[in-house]
Amino acid sequence: MSKVTRRLLRSMKRKGEKITMLTAYDYAFARIVDKAGVDVILVGDSLGNVVQGGANTLSVTLDEIIYHTRIVARGVENAMVVADMPFMSFQVSPEDALRNAGRIMKESGAEAVKLEGGAVMAETVTRITSVGIPVMGHIGLTPQSVHQFGGYRIQGKKEKAQERLINDAKILQKAGAFSIVLECTPASLAKTISEELRIPTIGIGAGPDCDGQVLVLHDLIGLNEGHVPSFVKKYAEIGTVAREAIETFARDVRDGAYPDEGHSF
Ligand code: KIV
Repeated sequence: MSKVTRRLLRSMKRKGEKITMLTAYDYAFARIVDKAGVDVILVGDSLGNVVQGGANTLSVTLDEIIYHTRIVARGVENAMVVADMPFMSFQVSPEDALRNAGRIMKESGAEAVKLEGGAVMAETVTRITSVGIPVMGHIGLTPQSVHQFGGYRIQGKKEKAQERLINDAKILQKAGAFSIVLECTPASLAKTISEELRIPTIGIGAGPDCDGQVLVLHDLIGLNEGHVPSFVKKYAEIGTVAREAIETFARDVRDGAYPDEGHSF
């Protein structure tokens, strides 16, 4: 498999080949995800939930994203590494956003940044892409706006909201975004947006017709004991496997069964 670039993702969309994207937050899992052949690895600010145990993503800092992206990038050979811009690292002004996107690129090894928001972020996306930093957009349920939404709710149910999201997607494409995450929207809306854009859409809770799909790794492998959204398909119970292994180790130590002769010098 060759290195995944924005050009490759664009050609996958043209050919109708589905794009795969997963989150990772450290070297060990990044290696596994990369070796499994996933196209894009996102160091998401979902870090705040599944790694840091927070109720939302708002407290994640730029330094934390840079640190986690650096240790992810060390484990990746082929996938494109995208770093999420955390809350308040890009909303203040396009210049501030550019400075922070620049820090991410210089200090972490990311190959692109992702930021939440539609038309309101157009100038920021243009500013960041103008210096050669690829930007992935993110619309629909944007978790950094959880308090404004009043919870994690599906977006774009009413006609007016649908028109706004279609417009947001088109404006982000025009501003220079190379791809857009569509989170928690009706499948029919995600299909319309995906058909109308030249750049790939990556869905999460947005039905089967996006150009690709993303999930939070910890949800997919059963490592998240907190709330898991209903659109997630759990492919493994790694949390249970790990707990059973640890319980067996603890029992063996208490019983004197470990270390035995085979595990001693
Ligand atoms: O932070 C994250 O993991 C994300 C994905 C769920 C798209 O933004």
